[in-house]
Formats: sequence, structure tokens, C-alpha cells
Amino acid sequence: MAHVIAMAGKGGVGKTTLCGLLIQYLCETKRWPVLAVDADANSNLNEVLGVEVESTLGEVREEIERAGFDGLPVGMQKSTWAELRLNDALVEETAFDLLVMGRTQGQGCYCFVNGLLQTQMQKLEKNYRYIVVDNEAGLEHISRGLLPNMNTTILVSDCSRRGVQAAGRIA
Ligand SMILES: Nc1ncnc2c1ncn2[C@@H]1O[C@H](COP(=O)(O)OP(=O)(O)OP(=O)(O)O)[C@@H](O)[C@H]1O
Ligand SMILES: [Mg+2]
Repeated sequence: MAHVIAMAGKGGVGKTTLCGLLIQYLCETKRWPVLAVDADANSNLNEVLGVEVESTLGEVREEIERAGFDGLPVGMQKSTWAELRLNDALVEETAFDLLVMGRTQGQGCYCFVNGLLQTQMQKLEKNYRYIVVDNEAGLEHISRGLLPNMNTTILVSDCSRRGVQAAGRIA
């Protein structure tokens, strides 16, 4: 069972930067395999890690929704194809893999893609020693239950009163 470490805190306090440093530390000290999860709809953990992302779960989800039966590989059921495409959203590096939630186009709630991320994380969990989750600012993911098996939460703050208050609310 992977040890799940999640970052939380106010916007712009360094959650993503700290995630990147933690993942680097875990890899350098040979605590792999590590799964990096970018659960921020405004994703940028890949840039900190220096990794190109071809497709996010949000994009794959839209592709699956758009696809008619004509576009599927011959003889393949849509559910099987959807499963394969979702697996493609995992970026595989030497010491760590990266899964990016992304978002769906347009306005509105992204609860669906959030649920999809949760399902994928549960499927992948057994393959990793550590899962490091970069979250968006605030309490959203924690209140939506994205991280039911969270073992460690790192509350990140700058020196501002608001930063510390936000960390306190999350705690
Ligand atoms: N310890 C630090 N000292 C100075 N600058 C930092 C530090 N940590 C991060 N930064 C800088 O602060 C900015 C915001 O950092 P980062 O993106 O990691 O924050 P974040 O909490 O993930 O933001 P968001 O809530 O938007 O996701 C970046 O420009 C980053 O380089
Ligand atoms: Mg961030």
C-alpha cells in the first residue's frame, strides 16, 4: 500500500514547488516507485518536474465522451478502449510516474474529473511506494474526499497571517 502525501494550503504559497522537491528527494534516496499526482485543475506540477504531458484525465474524458462507435479500433468495446485511453494519461519516467487531472473544457463544476482521478488513483495505488499529491489552493479536494487514504498532509504557508489561517482551517 502506497504512503500518500498531500500538499495543502493557500494559493501561491509554494505547494507545487515543495511537491517537486519532495518527489526529487524521494527519487534521489531511492524510495521509488513514486506516483506524482497533479490534482490542481490549473496544473503545473509537470513544469516543476520537467516533464511533458500529452494528455490529462480531463482531456481523455472528453475524447471518450466525443468518440462514436465508428472511431473505435475494430472489435474493441468502448469500455475497453476508454480504459486503455485512461491508462495513456499516465506519464512514465524512470523513477516516478505522473498523473495529471487537468480539467474539462468550458465552465462548471469538475466533480466528474475529480471522481475519475480518485478512481485512477485507487487502481494505481498498489504499484507505488509513495504517492505525492499536489492540490489546488483551499479545501476542495479534501472536502470532496479525493484523498481518503491520505497518510500525511503537508500544510504549506508563507509568513502571512492569511496563509497561516488557511493552514489552520485545513488542519
Ligand atoms: N520557498 C520559496 N521561496 C521563494 N519563492 C518561492 C518558494 N516556494 C515557491 N516559490 C515561488 O512562489 C511562486 C508560487 O509557487 P508555487 O506555484 O509552488 O505555489 P502554489 O502554492 O503551488 O500555487 P497555487 O496555489 O497557484 O497552485 C513560484 O513562482 C515559486 O517559484
Ligand atoms: Mg500549485
